Amino acid sequence: MQNHYNNNGVSRRKFIGTLTGAAALSLLKLDRRAIAGSLPLDGLLTDYTGRICYNENPLGPSAAAITAIQEEAAMSHRYPDWYADSLVSDLASFFDIDSDKIVCGSGATEILRLSAMAFAESGGNVVSSYPSYSQFPNDAEFFGSDVRYADLDDDYLVDLTALYNLVDGDTTCVCITNPNNPTGTLLNPEDLSAFVDSLPSGVVTLIDEAYVEIIRTTSFTPDSIWEDDYLSAVEMVKDGKNVVVVRTFSKGYGLAGARIGYAIGRESRINSIKANRIFATVSRASLEAAKAALEDQDHIRNTAVLARQTRQYCYNEFDDMGLDYIPSAVNFFMVDVGNADSVRSQLSSRGIYVRSGWGMPGHLRVSTGTMHEMESFINALRDILGYPGGRPKKADWKLPENTELFQAYPNPFNSSTSIKVFLPATQKVSLEIYNVRGRLVTKLADRVLGAGEHAFVWNGIDSSGKSVSSGSYFYRLVAGEDVITRRMILIK
Ligand SMILES: Cc1ncc(COP(=O)(O)O)c(C=O)c1O
Repeated sequence: MQNHYNNNGVSRRKFIGTLTGAAALSLLKLDRRAIAGSLPLDGLLTDYTGRICYNENPLGPSAAAITAIQEEAAMSHRYPDWYADSLVSDLASFFDIDSDKIVCGSGATEILRLSAMAFAESGGNVVSSYPSYSQFPNDAEFFGSDVRYADLDDDYLVDLTALYNLVDGDTTCVCITNPNNPTGTLLNPEDLSAFVDSLPSGVVTLIDEAYVEIIRTTSFTPDSIWEDDYLSAVEMVKDGKNVVVVRTFSKGYGLAGARIGYAIGRESRINSIKANRIFATVSRASLEAAKAALEDQDHIRNTAVLARQTRQYCYNEFDDMGLDYIPSAVNFFMVDVGNADSVRSQLSSRGIYVRSGWGMPGHLRVSTGTMHEMESFINALRDILGYPGGRPKKADWKLPENTELFQAYPNPFNSSTSIKVFLPATQKVSLEIYNVRGRLVTKLADRVLGAGEHAFVWNGIDSSGKSVSSGSYFYRLVAGEDVITRRMILIK
């Protein structure tokens, strides 16, 4: 078996071996207050800078999604698809799966609630991990089910063997968050698949993949870059397994405020989720945003790259300070700072919001923000912990920090040339072409664009549709406060 993991891999042989020698595990008696991390709310609703506590996407939504929302706004007097059918159909093509195996809702939050209504039974039990995302087990308990928790293993990874040992004849569902929140750890897909196969046939495995898009391009070791090959649990659904995968547009796609989630699973299971839904919970604008975002996988790539770079920057700083951290696959990580509650409140008084809790008194959970936010976080942490030493070193950048207007390519050009722009944040942008007399020739862009790289092609045509003559032309980018002009030459 190929092992992508440098610290958490559990081989299939080891996993199956431990199952047969199963020792009974005591159930954790959990204080409900310790399940979720404490929420630092002061100031957060008005000031988003330093809000590195909700695992949001610092790049914002894809520009295509923003445009889609703007274009759909005028139709807001009409109800949306009752059940998000157009998005279901786009997701079906995207995943190459039957649309009967998909259900959409208002965020993963609605989907998890509907799943708890479908899979939790009074008198039965559901099995979950701790610490992990708590909504499903909490909802299951609310609907009358007993909840059994298995601790994470010594590497803070969901412990499949411990979960298996909690399953009995009354178990209706096992809930696994992968990548796990709050630890950011990731299971080996083959181990997860073997686990699902080992369960009694009536037990459904609910796999919350809220962060799965961000693990693309994640590298656990410097020489293993993980491009698009992480095997999502959607593959298990395609293989006919008794699995429901919960996904969201909130994280990788940067659409947390638009509230769109979905589940992909065996048809009978999806029908049970549908049985409890109410209609029209996803707005027209959100539906269009999600469909456009799905098309813009470059935005996901930029998101994943930024998460990896900011994470690595922090890890280097932690190494320098001698702090232990849990290697994460996603856009948040945990670092052991000694007294997490105290450090969290000191950070919060400096306008940096992180989280603590989950019964882990030493660990902060920190979302990866912009590079600027991570530098502020590290500076403040050094100060609070008394490591005034070395100023943070810059991470090994691939994404520029500032607005960039790149040289047109090719230049000089004959029939067409491509002009690339990089934006550090989502903003209103105009890109115009002028002739040497300063007269406007045409506009290539005049709209809101998302953070990341954008390419525009100019084929030597002016705004009235006529071919322009050979010569020098200027292209001018206005993005927020930044105005950048460059020159290119058209040769016919
Ligand atoms: C693991 C996990 N699942 C689900 C959610 C909820 O996502 P949504 O915004 O789609 O409701 C979150 C939000 O933080 C999460 O971390």
